[in-house]
Amino acid sequence: MNPNIVNFVYLIAGILFILGIKGLTKPKTAVRGNMLSALGMLLAVVVTLLNINTVDYSYIVAGVVVGGIVGSIMALRIQMTSMPQMVALLNGFGGGASLTIALAEYFTVLGVAPQSFADLVTSLAVDSSAFGVGVEGTIALVAIGLTVLIGAVTLTGSLVAFSKLQELMKKSYGLPGGPIGNGLFLVAALAAVVCMVINPGNLVAMVTIVALALLLGLFLVMPIGGADMPVVIALLNSYSGIAAALAGFVLGNTVLIIAGSLVGTSGLILTQIMCVAMNRSLANVLFGKMAAGGEKIDADEIYAGKVTSAQPEEVAMMLEVAKRVVIVPGYGMAMAQAQHAVRELADAMEARGIEVEYGIHPVAGRMPGHMNVLLAEAEVPYDNLVEMDRINPTFEDTDVVIVIGANDVTNPMAREAEGSPIYGMPILNVDKAKNVVVIKRSLSPGFAGLPNPLFAMDHTLMVYGDGKKAVVEMTTALNQA
Ligand code: TAP
Repeated sequence: MNPNIVNFVYLIAGILFILGIKGLTKPKTAVRGNMLSALGMLLAVVVTLLNINTVDYSYIVAGVVVGGIVGSIMALRIQMTSMPQMVALLNGFGGGASLTIALAEYFTVLGVAPQSFADLVTSLAVDSSAFGVGVEGTIALVAIGLTVLIGAVTLTGSLVAFSKLQELMKKSYGLPGGPIGNGLFLVAALAAVVCMVINPGNLVAMVTIVALALLLGLFLVMPIGGADMPVVIALLNSYSGIAAALAGFVLGNTVLIIAGSLVGTSGLILTQIMCVAMNRSLANVLFGKMAAGGEKIDADEIYAGKVTSAQPEEVAMMLEVAKRVVIVPGYGMAMAQAQHAVRELADAMEARGIEVEYGIHPVAGRMPGHMNVLLAEAEVPYDNLVEMDRINPTFEDTDVVIVIGANDVTNPMAREAEGSPIYGMPILNVDKAKNVVVIKRSLSPGFAGLPNPLFAMDHTLMVYGDGKKAVVEMTTALNQA
Protein backbone atom coordinates (compact mmCIF):
# COMPACT_ATOMS: atom_id res chain seq x y z
CA MET A 1 0.00 0.00 0.00
CA ASN A 2 1.20 3.53 -0.77
CA PRO A 3 2.97 4.80 2.38
CA ASN A 4 1.36 8.23 1.95
CA ILE A 5 -2.11 6.69 2.12
CA VAL A 6 -1.12 4.67 5.20
CA ASN A 7 0.25 7.74 6.96
CA PHE A 8 -2.78 9.80 5.97
CA VAL A 9 -5.17 7.22 7.46
CA TYR A 10 -2.99 7.05 10.59
CA LEU A 11 -3.28 10.83 10.85
CA ILE A 12 -7.08 10.61 10.58
CA ALA A 13 -7.05 7.87 13.26
CA GLY A 14 -4.89 10.06 15.53
CA ILE A 15 -7.30 12.98 15.10
CA LEU A 16 -10.26 10.69 15.89
CA PHE A 17 -8.49 9.52 19.10
CA ILE A 18 -8.00 13.12 20.22
CA LEU A 19 -11.60 14.08 19.39
CA GLY A 20 -12.70 10.92 21.20
CA ILE A 21 -10.82 11.83 24.39
CA LYS A 22 -12.22 15.36 24.19
CA GLY A 23 -15.73 13.88 23.91
CA LEU A 24 -15.12 11.71 26.96
CA THR A 25 -14.63 14.78 29.15
CA LYS A 26 -18.39 15.49 29.19
CA PRO A 27 -21.19 13.01 29.88
CA LYS A 28 -23.30 14.44 27.05
CA THR A 29 -20.61 13.77 24.43
CA ALA A 30 -19.02 10.70 26.05
CA VAL A 31 -20.78 8.04 23.98
CA ARG A 32 -19.96 9.88 20.76
CA GLY A 33 -16.36 10.28 21.94
CA ASN A 34 -16.10 6.56 22.57
CA MET A 35 -17.45 5.79 19.10
CA LEU A 36 -15.02 8.22 17.46
CA SER A 37 -12.05 6.61 19.21
CA ALA A 38 -13.29 3.13 18.30
CA LEU A 39 -13.65 4.21 14.66
CA GLY A 40 -10.09 5.59 14.75
CA MET A 41 -8.82 2.26 16.08
CA LEU A 42 -10.76 0.30 13.45
CA LEU A 43 -9.23 2.43 10.67
CA ALA A 44 -5.75 2.01 12.15
CA VAL A 45 -6.07 -1.77 12.47
CA VAL A 46 -7.52 -2.27 8.97
CA VAL A 47 -4.86 -0.12 7.28
CA THR A 48 -2.06 -1.78 9.27
CA LEU A 49 -3.26 -5.23 8.23
CA LEU A 50 -3.67 -4.23 4.58
CA ASN A 51 -0.18 -2.75 4.65
CA ILE A 52 1.51 -6.02 5.60
CA ASN A 53 2.09 -8.29 2.65
CA THR A 54 3.26 -11.42 4.38
CA VAL A 55 0.54 -11.64 6.98
CA ASP A 56 -1.19 -14.93 7.74
CA TYR A 57 -4.77 -13.78 8.26
CA SER A 58 -5.95 -17.06 9.78
CA TYR A 59 -4.16 -16.29 13.09
CA ILE A 60 -5.52 -12.77 13.12
CA VAL A 61 -9.10 -13.82 12.40
CA ALA A 62 -8.83 -16.50 15.11
CA GLY A 63 -7.49 -13.90 17.57
CA VAL A 64 -10.23 -11.41 16.74
CA VAL A 65 -12.96 -14.06 17.10
CA VAL A 66 -11.69 -15.51 20.39
CA GLY A 67 -10.81 -12.09 21.85
CA GLY A 68 -14.09 -10.60 20.63
CA ILE A 69 -16.18 -13.36 22.22
CA VAL A 70 -14.31 -13.28 25.54
CA GLY A 71 -14.35 -9.46 25.62
CA SER A 72 -18.06 -9.25 24.78
CA ILE A 73 -19.00 -11.77 27.47
CA MET A 74 -16.88 -9.93 30.05
CA ALA A 75 -18.33 -6.54 29.08
CA LEU A 76 -21.93 -7.79 29.15
CA ARG A 77 -21.63 -9.64 32.46
CA ILE A 78 -19.56 -7.14 34.43
CA GLN A 79 -21.38 -5.36 37.24
CA MET A 80 -20.92 -1.61 37.52
CA THR A 81 -19.41 -2.17 40.99
CA SER A 82 -16.73 -4.46 39.50
CA MET A 83 -15.68 -2.04 36.78
CA PRO A 84 -12.35 -1.09 38.47
CA GLN A 85 -11.26 -4.76 38.44
CA MET A 86 -12.16 -4.93 34.76
CA VAL A 87 -10.11 -1.81 34.03
CA ALA A 88 -7.19 -3.27 36.00
CA LEU A 89 -7.38 -6.50 34.02
CA LEU A 90 -7.56 -4.68 30.68
CA ASN A 91 -4.55 -2.54 31.64
CA GLY A 92 -2.70 -5.79 32.37
CA PHE A 93 -3.64 -7.24 28.98
CA GLY A 94 -2.38 -4.02 27.33
CA GLY A 95 0.95 -4.33 29.14
CA GLY A 96 1.16 -8.05 28.28
CA ALA A 97 0.46 -7.30 24.60
CA SER A 98 3.27 -4.72 24.46
CA LEU A 99 5.61 -7.12 26.27
CA THR A 100 4.97 -9.92 23.79
CA ILE A 101 5.20 -7.58 20.76
CA ALA A 102 8.63 -6.39 21.90
CA LEU A 103 9.83 -9.94 22.61
CA ALA A 104 8.55 -11.14 19.23
CA GLU A 105 10.35 -8.29 17.47
CA TYR A 106 13.53 -8.98 19.43
CA PHE A 107 13.59 -12.65 18.48
CA THR A 108 12.53 -11.95 14.89
CA VAL A 109 15.34 -9.46 14.34
CA LEU A 110 17.86 -11.78 16.00
CA GLY A 111 16.59 -14.63 13.88
CA VAL A 112 16.17 -16.78 17.01
CA ALA A 113 13.10 -18.87 17.56
CA PRO A 114 13.70 -20.46 20.96
CA GLN A 115 11.72 -23.65 21.46
CA SER A 116 12.03 -23.66 25.21
CA PHE A 117 13.21 -21.68 28.20
CA ALA A 118 16.37 -23.83 28.24
CA ASP A 119 17.11 -22.75 24.66
CA LEU A 120 16.88 -19.15 25.75
CA VAL A 121 19.39 -19.55 28.53
CA THR A 122 21.84 -21.69 26.61
CA SER A 123 21.93 -19.88 23.27
CA LEU A 124 24.22 -17.12 24.42
CA ALA A 125 26.23 -16.68 21.26
CA VAL A 126 23.58 -15.23 19.00
CA ASP A 127 24.70 -12.93 16.23
CA SER A 128 23.55 -9.48 17.22
CA SER A 129 24.58 -7.70 14.03
CA ALA A 130 20.98 -8.04 12.83
CA PHE A 131 20.08 -5.03 14.95
CA GLY A 132 22.32 -2.84 12.89
CA VAL A 133 24.76 -0.37 14.29
CA GLY A 134 24.66 3.29 15.17
CA VAL A 135 21.89 5.38 16.57
CA GLU A 136 19.02 3.58 14.84
CA GLY A 137 19.97 0.14 16.10
CA THR A 138 20.52 1.51 19.62
CA ILE A 139 17.15 3.29 19.62
CA ALA A 140 15.42 0.09 18.51
CA LEU A 141 17.10 -1.86 21.31
CA VAL A 142 16.37 0.76 23.99
CA ALA A 143 12.73 0.78 22.85
CA ILE A 144 12.56 -3.03 23.01
CA GLY A 145 14.18 -3.14 26.47
CA LEU A 146 11.90 -0.46 27.92
CA THR A 147 8.78 -1.95 26.33
CA VAL A 148 9.59 -5.31 27.88
CA LEU A 149 10.33 -3.69 31.25
CA ILE A 150 7.22 -1.48 31.43
CA GLY A 151 4.95 -4.05 29.76
CA ALA A 152 5.94 -6.75 32.27
CA VAL A 153 5.56 -4.42 35.28
CA THR A 154 2.12 -3.41 33.99
CA LEU A 155 1.10 -7.03 33.44
CA THR A 156 1.87 -8.41 36.90
CA GLY A 157 1.05 -5.15 38.70
CA SER A 158 -2.38 -5.09 37.09
CA LEU A 159 -3.04 -8.74 37.87
CA VAL A 160 -2.29 -8.02 41.54
CA ALA A 161 -4.57 -4.94 41.41
CA PHE A 162 -7.30 -7.14 39.92
CA SER A 163 -6.82 -9.82 42.63
CA LYS A 164 -6.99 -7.21 45.36
CA LEU A 165 -10.13 -5.52 44.08
CA GLN A 166 -11.77 -8.90 43.44
CA GLU A 167 -10.80 -9.75 47.03
CA LEU A 168 -8.80 -12.78 45.89
CA MET A 169 -5.78 -11.30 47.68
CA LYS A 170 -6.90 -9.89 50.99
CA LYS A 171 -3.62 -9.10 52.72
CA SER A 172 -0.88 -6.70 51.74
CA TYR A 173 2.52 -8.26 51.11
CA GLY A 174 5.64 -6.52 49.97
CA LEU A 175 9.31 -6.89 49.30
CA PRO A 176 11.13 -7.04 52.65
CA GLY A 177 13.21 -4.03 51.63
CA GLY A 178 10.08 -1.95 51.00
CA PRO A 179 10.53 1.04 48.69
CA ILE A 180 14.34 0.62 48.75
CA GLY A 181 13.98 -3.02 47.71
CA ASN A 182 11.69 -1.97 44.86
CA GLY A 183 14.17 0.73 43.87
CA LEU A 184 17.00 -1.84 43.76
CA PHE A 185 14.86 -4.14 41.58
CA LEU A 186 14.22 -1.25 39.21
CA VAL A 187 17.93 -0.34 39.04
CA ALA A 188 18.83 -4.00 38.40
CA ALA A 189 16.20 -4.26 35.62
CA LEU A 190 17.50 -1.03 34.02
CA ALA A 191 21.07 -2.39 34.26
CA ALA A 192 19.88 -5.51 32.42
CA VAL A 193 18.37 -3.24 29.71
CA VAL A 194 21.77 -1.51 29.35
CA CYS A 195 23.51 -4.93 29.08
CA MET A 196 21.02 -6.04 26.46
CA VAL A 197 21.52 -2.83 24.45
CA ILE A 198 25.32 -3.17 24.58
CA ASN A 199 25.19 -6.82 23.61
CA PRO A 200 21.81 -7.65 22.03
CA GLY A 201 22.81 -11.26 21.52
CA ASN A 202 23.01 -11.73 25.29
CA LEU A 203 19.75 -13.53 25.89
CA VAL A 204 20.47 -13.81 29.60
CA ALA A 205 20.11 -10.03 29.81
CA MET A 206 16.70 -10.23 28.12
CA VAL A 207 15.53 -13.06 30.38
CA THR A 208 16.75 -11.04 33.38
CA ILE A 209 14.76 -7.95 32.29
CA VAL A 210 11.59 -10.03 31.92
CA ALA A 211 12.04 -11.82 35.26
CA LEU A 212 12.93 -8.70 37.26
CA ALA A 213 10.15 -6.63 35.69
CA LEU A 214 7.50 -9.29 36.33
CA LEU A 215 8.62 -9.47 39.98
CA LEU A 216 8.80 -5.68 40.26
CA GLY A 217 5.17 -5.42 39.12
CA LEU A 218 4.16 -7.85 41.85
CA PHE A 219 6.20 -6.16 44.57
CA LEU A 220 5.08 -2.66 43.61
CA VAL A 221 1.37 -3.37 43.95
CA MET A 222 1.26 -6.11 46.60
CA PRO A 223 1.90 -3.80 49.58
CA ILE A 224 -0.77 -1.35 48.46
CA GLY A 225 -4.14 -1.53 50.05
CA GLY A 226 -6.88 0.72 51.27
CA ALA A 227 -7.61 4.04 49.80
CA ASP A 228 -4.66 4.24 47.40
CA MET A 229 -5.85 1.62 44.91
CA PRO A 230 -7.51 4.05 42.46
CA VAL A 231 -4.25 5.94 42.09
CA VAL A 232 -2.48 2.68 41.32
CA ILE A 233 -5.03 1.73 38.67
CA ALA A 234 -4.74 5.12 36.99
CA LEU A 235 -0.95 4.78 37.10
CA LEU A 236 -1.01 1.27 35.63
CA ASN A 237 -3.30 2.61 32.92
CA SER A 238 -0.66 5.18 32.14
CA TYR A 239 2.07 2.50 32.15
CA SER A 240 0.09 0.40 29.67
CA GLY A 241 -0.08 3.46 27.38
CA ILE A 242 3.66 4.13 27.71
CA ALA A 243 4.40 0.47 26.95
CA ALA A 244 2.13 0.66 23.87
CA ALA A 245 3.84 3.87 22.67
CA LEU A 246 7.26 2.23 23.06
CA ALA A 247 5.94 -0.83 21.19
CA GLY A 248 5.01 1.66 18.44
CA PHE A 249 8.69 2.70 18.26
CA VAL A 250 9.72 -0.96 18.17
CA LEU A 251 7.41 -1.67 15.23
CA GLY A 252 7.89 1.74 13.58
CA ASN A 253 4.12 2.22 13.75
CA THR A 254 3.12 5.86 14.15
CA VAL A 255 -0.50 5.31 15.11
CA LEU A 256 0.54 3.01 17.98
CA ILE A 257 2.90 5.74 19.19
CA ILE A 258 0.06 8.28 19.07
CA ALA A 259 -2.51 6.01 20.77
CA GLY A 260 -0.02 4.87 23.42
CA SER A 261 1.09 8.44 24.15
CA LEU A 262 -2.52 9.56 24.55
CA VAL A 263 -3.27 6.73 26.98
CA GLY A 264 0.04 7.31 28.79
CA THR A 265 -0.48 11.02 29.27
CA SER A 266 -4.19 10.90 30.04
CA GLY A 267 -3.44 8.15 32.58
CA LEU A 268 -0.79 10.36 34.16
CA ILE A 269 -3.19 13.32 34.31
CA LEU A 270 -5.83 11.07 35.92
CA THR A 271 -3.18 9.82 38.36
CA GLN A 272 -2.41 13.41 39.31
CA ILE A 273 -6.11 14.22 39.78
CA MET A 274 -6.52 11.08 41.93
CA CYS A 275 -3.41 11.93 43.97
CA VAL A 276 -4.80 15.38 44.76
CA ALA A 277 -8.25 13.94 45.56
CA MET A 278 -6.77 11.35 47.93
CA ASN A 279 -3.91 13.49 49.20
CA ARG A 280 -1.18 11.08 48.08
CA SER A 281 2.02 12.29 46.50
CA LEU A 282 3.01 10.63 43.24
CA ALA A 283 6.42 9.76 44.73
CA ASN A 284 4.69 7.82 47.50
CA VAL A 285 2.64 5.96 44.93
CA LEU A 286 5.63 5.21 42.69
CA PHE A 287 7.75 3.82 45.49
CA GLY A 288 4.98 1.79 47.04
CA LYS A 289 4.97 3.78 50.29
CA MET A 290 1.25 3.61 50.87
CA ALA A 291 -1.06 4.45 53.74
CA ALA A 292 -1.14 1.20 55.67
CA GLY A 293 -3.17 1.84 58.76
CA GLY A 294 -1.82 4.74 60.76
CA GLU A 295 -2.92 4.97 64.37
CA LYS A 296 -5.45 2.41 65.54
CA ILE A 297 -8.71 4.26 66.08
CA ASP A 298 -11.30 2.80 68.44
CA ALA A 299 -14.78 2.89 66.90
CA ASP A 300 -16.49 2.38 70.29
CA GLU A 301 -14.84 5.47 71.68
CA ILE A 302 -16.23 7.53 68.81
CA TYR A 303 -19.73 6.07 68.65
CA ALA A 304 -20.63 4.90 72.18
CA GLY A 305 -23.91 6.47 73.27
CA LYS A 306 -23.61 9.31 70.77
CA VAL A 307 -25.32 7.98 67.62
CA THR A 308 -28.95 8.93 66.90
CA SER A 309 -30.99 6.84 64.50
CA ALA A 310 -34.19 7.75 62.68
CA GLN A 311 -36.84 6.22 60.44
CA PRO A 312 -37.34 7.31 56.80
CA GLU A 313 -40.70 8.87 57.78
CA GLU A 314 -38.98 11.20 60.29
CA VAL A 315 -36.53 12.27 57.60
CA ALA A 316 -39.44 13.00 55.26
CA MET A 317 -40.87 15.38 57.88
CA MET A 318 -37.53 17.16 58.01
CA LEU A 319 -37.42 17.42 54.22
CA GLU A 320 -40.91 18.92 54.11
CA VAL A 321 -39.63 22.13 55.67
CA ALA A 322 -36.25 22.23 53.93
CA LYS A 323 -35.38 24.84 51.31
CA ARG A 324 -32.11 23.38 50.11
CA VAL A 325 -31.03 19.71 50.16
CA VAL A 326 -27.75 18.21 48.98
CA ILE A 327 -27.52 14.51 48.17
CA VAL A 328 -24.07 12.95 48.66
CA PRO A 329 -23.81 9.53 47.02
CA GLY A 330 -21.07 6.99 47.65
CA TYR A 331 -20.14 3.39 47.07
CA GLY A 332 -23.21 2.14 49.00
CA MET A 333 -25.52 3.81 46.46
CA ALA A 334 -23.84 1.73 43.76
CA MET A 335 -24.11 -1.42 45.89
CA ALA A 336 -27.81 -0.80 46.53
CA GLN A 337 -28.41 0.23 42.89
CA ALA A 338 -30.33 3.12 44.40
CA GLN A 339 -29.64 5.74 41.72
CA HIS A 340 -33.14 5.63 40.21
CA ALA A 341 -34.76 5.77 43.66
CA VAL A 342 -32.51 8.72 44.54
CA ARG A 343 -33.63 10.61 41.44
CA GLU A 344 -37.26 9.96 42.30
CA LEU A 345 -36.68 11.36 45.79
CA ALA A 346 -35.03 14.42 44.24
CA ASP A 347 -37.99 14.80 41.84
CA ALA A 348 -40.42 14.64 44.79
CA MET A 349 -38.44 17.31 46.63
CA GLU A 350 -38.18 19.55 43.57
CA ALA A 351 -41.93 19.23 43.06
CA ARG A 352 -42.25 20.85 46.49
CA GLY A 353 -39.97 23.71 45.48
CA ILE A 354 -36.92 22.41 47.35
CA GLU A 355 -33.58 23.18 45.70
CA VAL A 356 -31.71 19.88 45.22
CA GLU A 357 -28.08 19.38 44.24
CA TYR A 358 -25.72 16.42 44.32
CA GLY A 359 -22.27 16.71 45.92
CA ILE A 360 -19.81 14.57 43.96
CA HIS A 361 -16.45 13.63 45.46
CA PRO A 362 -13.82 12.71 42.84
CA VAL A 363 -13.10 9.32 44.48
CA ALA A 364 -16.59 8.46 45.73
CA GLY A 365 -17.38 4.86 44.79
CA ARG A 366 -14.69 2.65 43.38
CA MET A 367 -13.68 4.26 40.11
CA PRO A 368 -13.23 7.75 38.70
CA GLY A 369 -16.59 9.15 37.67
CA HIS A 370 -18.46 6.26 39.33
CA MET A 371 -21.22 8.45 40.78
CA ASN A 372 -21.55 10.55 37.63
CA VAL A 373 -22.07 7.43 35.51
CA LEU A 374 -24.71 5.97 37.85
CA LEU A 375 -26.62 9.23 38.20
CA ALA A 376 -26.45 9.87 34.45
CA GLU A 377 -27.93 6.39 33.96
CA ALA A 378 -30.84 7.51 36.19
CA GLU A 379 -31.16 10.64 34.03
CA VAL A 380 -30.21 13.09 36.74
CA PRO A 381 -29.53 16.39 34.93
CA TYR A 382 -25.77 16.77 34.71
CA ASP A 383 -25.95 20.41 35.82
CA ASN A 384 -27.23 19.23 39.22
CA LEU A 385 -24.02 17.25 39.87
CA VAL A 386 -21.70 19.66 41.65
CA GLU A 387 -18.05 18.83 42.20
CA MET A 388 -16.43 18.99 45.62
CA ASP A 389 -14.74 22.40 45.38
CA ARG A 390 -17.96 24.09 44.29
CA ILE A 391 -20.36 22.34 46.67
CA ASN A 392 -18.24 22.65 49.82
CA PRO A 393 -18.81 26.39 50.38
CA THR A 394 -22.59 25.82 50.09
CA PHE A 395 -23.01 23.32 52.95
CA GLU A 396 -23.43 25.99 55.60
CA ASP A 397 -26.55 27.19 53.76
CA THR A 398 -27.91 23.68 53.28
CA ASP A 399 -30.83 22.53 55.43
CA VAL A 400 -30.38 18.81 54.96
CA VAL A 401 -27.59 16.71 53.49
CA ILE A 402 -28.60 13.16 52.60
CA VAL A 403 -25.50 10.97 52.57
CA ILE A 404 -26.37 7.74 50.80
CA GLY A 405 -23.81 4.95 51.08
CA ALA A 406 -20.90 7.38 51.34
CA ASN A 407 -18.48 7.15 54.22
CA ASP A 408 -14.76 7.95 53.74
CA VAL A 409 -15.46 10.90 51.47
CA THR A 410 -17.39 12.59 54.30
CA ASN A 411 -15.10 11.61 57.20
CA PRO A 412 -14.04 14.72 59.18
CA MET A 413 -10.99 12.79 60.43
CA ALA A 414 -9.44 13.58 57.05
CA ARG A 415 -9.54 17.24 58.10
CA GLU A 416 -8.81 16.96 61.79
CA ALA A 417 -7.12 13.70 62.90
CA GLU A 418 -3.44 14.06 62.10
CA GLY A 419 -2.53 10.43 62.85
CA SER A 420 -5.26 9.03 60.61
CA PRO A 421 -4.35 7.35 57.30
CA ILE A 422 -6.80 9.59 55.44
CA TYR A 423 -5.54 12.80 57.07
CA GLY A 424 -5.24 15.47 54.40
CA MET A 425 -7.60 13.82 51.92
CA PRO A 426 -10.03 16.52 50.71
CA ILE A 427 -13.58 15.63 51.78
CA LEU A 428 -17.12 16.85 51.30
CA ASN A 429 -17.70 19.03 54.38
CA VAL A 430 -21.22 17.70 54.96
CA ASP A 431 -20.86 18.16 58.74
CA LYS A 432 -21.11 21.93 58.15
CA ALA A 433 -24.75 21.57 57.01
CA LYS A 434 -27.64 22.28 59.39
CA ASN A 435 -28.80 18.63 59.40
CA VAL A 436 -27.18 15.46 58.12
CA VAL A 437 -28.97 12.21 57.29
CA VAL A 438 -26.77 9.17 56.68
CA ILE A 439 -28.28 6.12 54.98
CA LYS A 440 -26.28 2.91 55.42
CA ARG A 441 -26.86 -0.54 56.82
CA SER A 442 -24.77 -0.29 59.98
CA LEU A 443 -21.89 1.61 61.57
CA SER A 444 -19.40 -0.49 59.55
CA PRO A 445 -16.46 1.42 58.14
CA GLY A 446 -15.95 2.23 54.46
CA PHE A 447 -13.05 1.40 52.16
CA ALA A 448 -10.36 2.93 54.37
CA GLY A 449 -11.53 0.86 57.36
CA LEU A 450 -11.97 3.86 59.68
CA PRO A 451 -14.78 4.95 61.99
CA ASN A 452 -16.49 8.17 60.98
CA PRO A 453 -17.12 10.82 63.69
CA LEU A 454 -19.79 12.36 61.42
CA PHE A 455 -22.16 9.54 62.45
CA ALA A 456 -21.90 10.57 66.12
CA MET A 457 -22.47 14.30 65.64
CA ASP A 458 -25.46 15.98 67.31
CA HIS A 459 -27.01 17.10 64.04
CA THR A 460 -26.62 13.71 62.31
CA LEU A 461 -29.39 11.12 61.98
CA MET A 462 -28.54 7.57 60.95
CA VAL A 463 -31.12 5.75 58.83
CA TYR A 464 -30.11 2.10 58.93
CA GLY A 465 -31.01 -0.11 56.00
CA ASP A 466 -30.39 -0.87 52.37
CA GLY A 467 -29.91 2.37 50.44
CA LYS A 468 -32.62 1.78 47.86
CA LYS A 469 -35.26 0.63 50.34
CA ALA A 470 -34.65 3.56 52.70
CA VAL A 471 -34.81 6.13 49.88
CA VAL A 472 -38.00 4.63 48.44
CA GLU A 473 -39.60 4.81 51.90
CA MET A 474 -38.54 8.45 52.27
CA THR A 475 -40.07 9.32 48.89
CA THR A 476 -43.32 7.54 49.72
CA ALA A 477 -43.55 9.33 53.06
CA LEU A 478 -42.77 12.71 51.45
CA ASN A 479 -45.37 12.19 48.72
CA GLN A 480 -47.98 11.33 51.34
CA ALA A 481 -47.21 14.33 53.52
P1 TAP B 1 -16.93 3.97 51.37
O1 TAP B 1 -16.11 4.79 52.27
O2 TAP B 1 -16.31 2.74 50.79
O3 TAP B 1 -18.26 3.57 52.16
C1 TAP B 1 -19.31 2.95 51.53
C2 TAP B 1 -20.39 2.69 52.55
O4 TAP B 1 -21.51 2.18 51.85
C3 TAP B 1 -20.02 1.65 53.58
O5 TAP B 1 -19.66 2.26 54.80
C4 TAP B 1 -21.26 0.76 53.68
O6 TAP B 1 -21.75 0.78 55.02
C5 TAP B 1 -22.27 1.42 52.76
N1 TAP B 1 -23.06 0.46 52.00
C6 TAP B 1 -22.65 -0.67 51.38
N2 TAP B 1 -23.68 -1.29 50.81
C7 TAP B 1 -24.77 -0.55 51.08
C8 TAP B 1 -26.14 -0.67 50.74
N3 TAP B 1 -26.62 -1.71 50.03
N4 TAP B 1 -26.98 0.29 51.16
C9 TAP B 1 -26.55 1.33 51.88
N5 TAP B 1 -25.25 1.51 52.23
C10 TAP B 1 -24.38 0.57 51.83
O7 TAP B 1 -17.49 4.80 50.14
P2 TAP B 1 -17.18 6.29 49.65
O8 TAP B 1 -17.51 7.28 50.70
O9 TAP B 1 -17.82 6.37 48.31
O10 TAP B 1 -15.62 6.35 49.51
C11 TAP B 1 -14.93 5.69 48.50
C12 TAP B 1 -13.72 5.01 49.08
O11 TAP B 1 -13.24 4.09 48.13
C13 TAP B 1 -12.61 5.99 49.38
O12 TAP B 1 -11.85 5.56 50.49
C14 TAP B 1 -11.78 5.92 48.11
O13 TAP B 1 -10.46 6.32 48.30
C15 TAP B 1 -11.89 4.44 47.79
N6 TAP B 1 -11.72 4.08 46.41
C16 TAP B 1 -12.16 4.93 45.46
C17 TAP B 1 -12.01 4.61 44.14
C18 TAP B 1 -12.46 5.60 43.13
S1 TAP B 1 -11.49 6.00 41.92
N7 TAP B 1 -13.62 6.17 43.26
C19 TAP B 1 -11.45 3.37 43.77
C20 TAP B 1 -11.06 2.47 44.78
C21 TAP B 1 -11.20 2.87 46.11
P3 TAP B 1 -22.65 -0.42 55.57
O14 TAP B 1 -21.88 -1.66 55.37
O15 TAP B 1 -22.86 -0.07 57.01
O16 TAP B 1 -23.92 -0.39 54.78
